[in-house]
Amino acid sequence: MSETILRQGESAPHPRPLTVLGLESSCDDTAAAVLRMPGAANAPGEILANVVMDQTALHAAFGGVVPELAARAHAEKMDLAVEQALAEAGLGLSDLDVIAVTSGPGLIGGVLAGVMCAKGLSAGSGLPLVGVNHLAGHALTPRLTHGLAFPYLMLLVSGGHCQFLLVQSPSQYRRLGGTIDDAPGEAFDKTAKILGLPQPGGPAVQRAAETGDAKAFALPRPLLDRPGCDMSFSGLKTALLRARDGAVAAHGGLRSQDRADLCASFQATVAAVLREKTRRALAAAREIAPDLSALCIAGGVAANSMLRAELDALAQGEDLPLIAPPLRLCTDNGAMIAWAGGELYRLGQRDGFDLAARPRWPLDQTSPALLGSGRKGPKA
Ligand code: KG4
Ligand code: ZN
Repeated sequence: MSETILRQGESAPHPRPLTVLGLESSCDDTAAAVLRMPGAANAPGEILANVVMDQTALHAAFGGVVPELAARAHAEKMDLAVEQALAEAGLGLSDLDVIAVTSGPGLIGGVLAGVMCAKGLSAGSGLPLVGVNHLAGHALTPRLTHGLAFPYLMLLVSGGHCQFLLVQSPSQYRRLGGTIDDAPGEAFDKTAKILGLPQPGGPAVQRAAETGDAKAFALPRPLLDRPGCDMSFSGLKTALLRARDGAVAAHGGLRSQDRADLCASFQATVAAVLREKTRRALAAAREIAPDLSALCIAGGVAANSMLRAELDALAQGEDLPLIAPPLRLCTDNGAMIAWAGGELYRLGQRDGFDLAARPRWPLDQTSPALLGSGRKGPKA
């Protein structure tokens, strides 16, 4: 193998641009995207198509994602999503360089549907196949959207995930902490349910909180009294239930002002816990990587404006930018899988037809597993 020797003043040659198809089906979104990765290092990607077929209506009557129904819908829709993505990009399979697919963690039937489809496409076209960890897709999104340089700290907060990741390379992650029970999105959704607000609960609670007093109810701030960056949100919903029952008993029903106050108190508590835990995670990350480039946030809960404001203030105080990708790229999508797959391909990853679908797959293999399994699948 010949080796390139760089002379002083010369920079490493840029890798060639890549066109990548990304498939995602680990939870309740069937997604396919076509993405162009630039040759330059630390430059953002160009999304040529980003198709997301969500299954909200399919699961609405059940109050959560039904894995069997999800898997069947993924198997039915994945090839349609791929066809649509290629058509929107104006490309055929022969224009692609790589096929990337989420191969875990997630609901196993859905992951299998995506992996089988990707294997079929790879077998038919001869294109290389790359299996991607779903969490790596989320964690690398700030590179896709902003061309962000490593290392950075990512807070991933959604209905299914909640963890701090120090992102050091496409294949190197340190999990600095995470929830030991519910994810914050789940807590928002349960709060909405307890207070008779519609699902998904996050936006409804945020709206109701606008007219509420965040100091009206003192809710517990779980695990703040303990060192470290692990979090717990399940006790909060029990406390909220008790506070609601207290308000109902006092006034013979839930007054709309009480509902607004409960929402405001709940939201402020979650934001305060996440801010303090993020402060600690930043300190821990800087111990390992003093040249941290940014604080990043992704996942559906990243849409919460109070949380964003709290983390923005924290980041400013720490002299770091806060990077939050646009919401459609914060939530599950195929573009993030295409990007992560392209980065891994450049590092030499190639998967065979023995690529396995993995229900659990921690990004950081060295940290002990977190407890619990979310409404939308394992938290890994
Ligand atoms: O990332 P996502 O779309 O799906 C997965 O969990 O995989 O996140 C959805 C979660 C839901 O629990 C929803 O209530 C929450 O994100 N969410 C919010 C807001 N918008 C969505 N939570 C708080 N505030 C919001 N504005
Ligand atoms: Zn996700």
